[in-house]
Amino acid sequence: MEIKQVGVLGAGTMGAGIAQVFAEAGLKVMLVDIDSNMLQAALGKIKKSWQKAVEKGKIDDAVKAAREALLECSGDMSGFKDCDLVVEAIVEEIGVKQKVFQAMADICQEQAILATNTSALSITEIAAATQRADRILGMHFFNPVTVMKLVEVIPGLETSMSTTEAVVELVKRIGKEPVITKEAPGFLVNRILNPLVNEAALVYQEGMASAEEIDKAMKLGAGLPMGPLALADLVGLDVVLKVTEYLFKEFGESKYRPALVLKQKVRAGHLGVKTGKGFYDYK
Ligand code: CAA
Ligand code: NAD
Repeated sequence: MEIKQVGVLGAGTMGAGIAQVFAEAGLKVMLVDIDSNMLQAALGKIKKSWQKAVEKGKIDDAVKAAREALLECSGDMSGFKDCDLVVEAIVEEIGVKQKVFQAMADICQEQAILATNTSALSITEIAAATQRADRILGMHFFNPVTVMKLVEVIPGLETSMSTTEAVVELVKRIGKEPVITKEAPGFLVNRILNPLVNEAALVYQEGMASAEEIDKAMKLGAGLPMGPLALADLVGLDVVLKVTEYLFKEFGESKYRPALVLKQKVRAGHLGVKTGKGFYDYK
């Protein structure tokens, strides 16, 4: 099955980037969000990035115009009816994801593939809300989407081999590297990375050092491209907390217990880069 037209549900941190990389690969993209401000912000961010690419001489005006023509935005999902694949990138809550998968299964053609960008949740549980579990899987992009090469491909219990193969092929077509992983909380990367970020939050909470010093130490001492607290701010502290809570709940081991400071910051609405304040200030 060749995927030519795609949908992206959610125009936040991840959805905007996912829509951008699809359009850059020449796919027709329908980007949908219930919040028109988020849609406008995503479109602005994507166009700015393409304008920057023109100024740097990486692409010319014609390529920019062609990409823009491929990208359509909407406040409702009806346009998904023409899509071969839809990637969901909305809030990390199982009940909300199940509801939108039910709605998407009603709108989309029978053969369409529905993918979730969930950071940690069960693909099988999301798919169980629909009658097409064989055409549902995890397609997990990393932040920032335009830069990070990996896409984890996660079949659920009932995902068909042809669905997984079609998505692996697509991942390669958009210039990313697929890694197929079995379903388990946090999959591969977040199972390993999230406890590191949570541990950094615990160290911060204990007052061992400032956020700047913790990040500096981990960059210079452990060779990380960015410090774990700056990374938490980039990901969104709400997302980090959701993933940590889910790992803690599913594995039942104290090593996954979320740091209190993470909960406090999320309760205060300090979600990191996207709200202008997290472990650092961005305004
Ligand atoms: N959004 C979009 N593009 C960005 C960006 C951002 N937030 N930050 C940097 N970039 C782009 C820059 O524009 C630049 O692109 P060009 O070369 O086209 O100009 C390129 O990235 C390199 O930028 P810099 O030289 O300024 O920065 P850098 O070399 O320090 O790299 C980084 C920045 C790629 C973010 C790097 O610090 C890094 O790899 N950080 C770790 C990221 C990471 O671990 N991501 C995974 C998070 S976990 C996740 O995503 C899963 C989940 O479910 C939560
Ligand atoms: P975000 O908060 O930046 O954006 C979510 C968007 O979804 C918002 O624009 C919101 O308006 C929209 N939305 C919410 N409910 C909707 C609905 N019913 N219909 C349409 N739009 C709706 O979130 P994000 O950080 O982009 O995360 C999205 C998903 O991707 C989550 O499952 C998250 O765990 C996962 N993820 C996040 C990261 C990251 O670094 N932030 C990385 C990989 C995966």
